[in-house]
Amino acid sequence: MQTLRDIRTFRPDVFKEPRGFIQPTFAQQNVVLEIGAGVGLHALTFARENPEKQIFAIERTAEKFQKFQCSHLSDSSPNLTPIHADAIPWVVHALPPESLQQVFILYPNPEPKNPAQRWFNMPFMQFLVSRMQPNATLTLASNIVEYLDEAERQLIHVWQLPYVRSNVTTERRTHFEIKYMARGEACGNIIVTKPEGYETPFDTYFRNAQ
Ligand SMILES: C[S@@+](CC[C@H](N)C(=O)[O-])C[C@H]1O[C@@H](n2cnc3c(N)ncnc32)[C@H](O)[C@@H]1O
Repeated sequence: MQTLRDIRTFRPDVFKEPRGFIQPTFAQQNVVLEIGAGVGLHALTFARENPEKQIFAIERTAEKFQKFQCSHLSDSSPNLTPIHADAIPWVVHALPPESLQQVFILYPNPEPKNPAQRWFNMPFMQFLVSRMQPNATLTLASNIVEYLDEAERQLIHVWQLPYVRSNVTTERRTHFEIKYMARGEACGNIIVTKPEGYETPFDTYFRNAQ
């Protein structure tokens, strides 16, 4: 069982700006981030249904991002910014501390051969939490019970963050979720809340501070 002492400290300073990086401006407080947005179904729907929120949705794979961008061009929600980048350097360079109200990581790659690359096992997790406002939430969804079990263990023993785990019942948020639900596979959500007063080593760190 890991504890915080077993996780190496994240080094934001080693990450270069993503290619073509543009520092986003934040129109308001309701800033939402989706990591691994795929072809963007959830981001597009969320943006349409929540016009008062500003959503940044990041996808690393070029082919998926192109489909996402095409759908966005025809839909053109002004409160959605699709980003083609690796989420880690983008978050390091773009986001000030306590800037996010909500984070979504929906059906992440299970990384069967590389558990250290699963989001809740990565040192980056602590940096990501430092970008969340107090009481902000992070929603993780997966169809892999062991992935969610492991994420729960990390939340309890490493990150010491409160969460609620539930089954996906009526949601059909992403193409992966639609596929798994159609096959009758059980899918689950973990919703993590950042408590007031939660501290990380990155609480005052902002790479692009003026
Ligand atoms: C299994 S797919 C799920 C896509 C979508 N969320 C869905 O449920 O349909 C996981 C996605 O995360 C993206 N991804 C993985 N690591 C990433 C990273 N570091 N930054 C941005 N995207 C990433 C992959 O390219 C892939 O499209």
